[in-house]
Amino acid sequence: MSARTLRAEGLSVETWCKPRHETRAGREPVPLVRAAGLDLVTGEVLALVGASGSGKSLACAALLGVLPPGTRSSGGRILLDGIEADPAALRGRAVATVLQAPRTAFNPLRTLADHAAETLAVAGIRGGAAGTAMREAFAAVGLGDDPRVPGLHPFQLSGGMLQRAMIALALMSGAPFLVADEPTTDLDLVAQKRILDLLAGLVRARGLGLLIVTHDLGVVARLADRMAVMEAGRIVEAGPVARVFAAPAAPSTRALLAAHRALHGEPA
Ligand SMILES: Nc1ncnc2c1ncn2[C@@H]1O[C@H](COP(=O)(O)OP(=O)(O)O)[C@@H](O)[C@H]1O
Ligand SMILES: [Mg+2]
Repeated sequence: MSARTLRAEGLSVETWCKPRHETRAGREPVPLVRAAGLDLVTGEVLALVGASGSGKSLACAALLGVLPPGTRSSGGRILLDGIEADPAALRGRAVATVLQAPRTAFNPLRTLADHAAETLAVAGIRGGAAGTAMREAFAAVGLGDDPRVPGLHPFQLSGGMLQRAMIALALMSGAPFLVADEPTTDLDLVAQKRILDLLAGLVRARGLGLLIVTHDLGVVARLADRMAVMEAGRIVEAGPVARVFAAPAAPSTRALLAAHRALHGEPA
């Protein structure tokens, strides 16, 4: 199987000043993401790091074509296997998402099996094949042991189980790429490690391409092949994790590494 690529070029996102900043000339656009480039390859993990507010989530949202209200795209393009594509057309088909707060991603009135049936229908899988695919995906994320799980509603599941269910839905979509924006922030430490190990295992076993946003450089060192560092809306450094850790070029990368080493009591 040859590697597939998902490339974002020149992603740019802007907002408008609030009315109190309004000038006579009208609302000025304010750039939030500035010509960010991201390169994903199947079978590899790309970690996106950077201070809070540096534009990581908006860059992911632009890649997925789901920019929040109050923001708009001001440039850039997405290429799947070298061919320009509309991000909205890729979402859920070529690119699946794992969100920070899984509870918001589920309809509270519907069971996991309902969500699975919907996702599989989009992927063109129905009937008996859908049942098999659902059981296989729930088993792959560690939710296969309890036969009651598919019949449960979101409120009956813990945050960690919901995050597993969201990853199972991503697998059911058949998408070769996965975007996970701080997927473990809302989980306790044990669940965090399990979810990260699960994601890393799926990347290796199924050859998925994973973009993971994290503020934890320990996670980057353990899971990622390459990393990109964002600062004030720009990607200021990108490269193989080993190279960036050994010889960080950008001041903000050096600052992140120094903070990480101080936190873990390692020499700077
Ligand atoms: N919907 C929005 N409207 C206006 N500004 C936004 C919106 N969402 C995020 N921002 C701003 O864009 C910048 C980048 O945000 P974000 O991508 O969420 O950062 P990160 O994920 O790196 O913490 C921040 O300054 C944030 O305040
Ligand atoms: Mg964010």
